[in-house]
Amino acid sequence: MKSTRRASRRAEAETQDLSKFPSENPNPVLRIARDGTLLYINEAGRSLLPQWHLEVSHASPPVLRDPVFQSMGTGTTQEVDLEHGERVYSFFVAPIVAARYANLYGRDITDRRQAEVALRDSRNMLQTVLDLIPSAVFWKDRDSIYLGGNRSWLEATGLKSSEGVVGKSDYDLPWKKEQADSFREHDRRVIESGIPEYDIIEPYLRGDGTHAWAKTTKVPLRDAEGNVVGVLGSYEDITERQLAEERMRTFSHEIIAAREEERRLVSSALHHDVGSLAVGVSAHLNAIEGDLRSGKPGEALKWTKRTRRLFNESVARLKEVAVQLRPPELDVLGLCAALRQHFSQVTKHGRTRIHFREILGRRRMSGDTATTLFRIAQETLTNAITHGEAKHVNVFLSASKKEVKLTVRDNGKGFSPSGQTGQATSRMGLRVMKEMAAASGGGFKIHSRRGKGTTVRVSLPYETAALRPGDVTVPKETVARGETTRSAGRGSRPRKGSGA
Ligand SMILES: Nc1ncnc2c1ncn2[C@@H]1O[C@H](COP(=O)(O)OP(=O)(O)OP(=O)(O)O)[C@@H](O)[C@H]1O
Ligand SMILES: [Mg+2]
Repeated sequence: MKSTRRASRRAEAETQDLSKFPSENPNPVLRIARDGTLLYINEAGRSLLPQWHLEVSHASPPVLRDPVFQSMGTGTTQEVDLEHGERVYSFFVAPIVAARYANLYGRDITDRRQAEVALRDSRNMLQTVLDLIPSAVFWKDRDSIYLGGNRSWLEATGLKSSEGVVGKSDYDLPWKKEQADSFREHDRRVIESGIPEYDIIEPYLRGDGTHAWAKTTKVPLRDAEGNVVGVLGSYEDITERQLAEERMRTFSHEIIAAREEERRLVSSALHHDVGSLAVGVSAHLNAIEGDLRSGKPGEALKWTKRTRRLFNESVARLKEVAVQLRPPELDVLGLCAALRQHFSQVTKHGRTRIHFREILGRRRMSGDTATTLFRIAQETLTNAITHGEAKHVNVFLSASKKEVKLTVRDNGKGFSPSGQTGQATSRMGLRVMKEMAAASGGGFKIHSRRGKGTTVRVSLPYETAALRPGDVTVPKETVARGETTRSAGRGSRPRKGSGA
């Protein structure tokens, strides 16, 4: 309204001047009758607007006639922008209703229009770039009133369009009052000091009402003279990252605790076995000595045999512990041999039948890949026997061009894998297996239903990098298609903690 009044006053002034000196005006000046007849045109009009073929006493073109007709009808002035060839003119139409004509004052606004188009294009480009940035970006004036924001920011606020945000303050947005106070306090600090504030981590309420964490950066916005005129903020929703870090921290603690528990078990096994061996051997030697002194060499010989048996048993037991820590076959003969050795140990005393098949071909895999597959097979088998009470377990190892796949299928009780999330922290097998597979760039899938058994599928990429010392070359005997089926005896189960 204001601008119309201002324009009207300007027009009146111009009308007076121009009525005195229209011929001297460098801009087009026209007078058109209510019926569209051109009554007057100055020199500038004739030379600048040749394409409209303007002739006094002739009908003017519709582009001029129509606005004149409108202004005469309403009795109000108006401004119309008209294209003439490559130029653009703005015509101020001043109706003189009593005289039944209107005066038109033209101005060449081509440069201004081009500047406006260029500005609009660059604004659109800037908005497009800002909308592509995953971080939420917004800008405010010195009073913390929003002037705009990108798409991510609008999504976070729950607002529909950037127009809807202009003129709003944080109190109009879904945040709580204390939160809005805190945001505005940050703005004030940055605006008053002129110093940016980076990576402020703070809680906030999302547009959909959920709680979240944000990492915010605020920098002062300055005008051409360097005065701070507002603040530009950007923030990232780091809720997922925070939660993942939290999970990772808990997980690391659990792994450290599990490793300690494993060491405790190994230590107590060694202590117990070596201790019993020492006590046993010492007692036997005493007996041998006593028998020899009292001239009973036959008895002494019997004790010698018992001592040897005790010694052999203890050595076997210590070997078992060593194998549980890391089977030597894995480093010396490769993954398949190590798996066969492990399965034979498991089936020696247990009731579960393990059917192992492999079609690895002449592929070489890194020591890390072999270890990961071995540990996953070990833990999966332990789970199948201890939890699933499976009678049969099928283990299948195959290789494609890019990856090696392990499938372990049991016919046990099955369970609901989704029900395992958020379970007691002591249950680490599944999580560790997933992490191990993910750390090798592979995938881990488990499929199970109550009463229908469980299938675990793991795929790990072959490493293309040169093999390092300790890496495993698939040995000849496992290159051929191999099958191992063993029947387990009663009572033996893999040891707790041997899996991961
Ligand atoms: N093959 C399976 N058959 C039946 N239930 C299974 C099987 N595998 C896993 N589960 C279920 O999933 C749970 C989680 O297994 P996970 O290996 O993570 O932990 P755990 O075996 O209980 O303990 P840990 O492996 O840390 O010694 C088990 O307690 C069991 O209820
Ligand atoms: Mg387990």
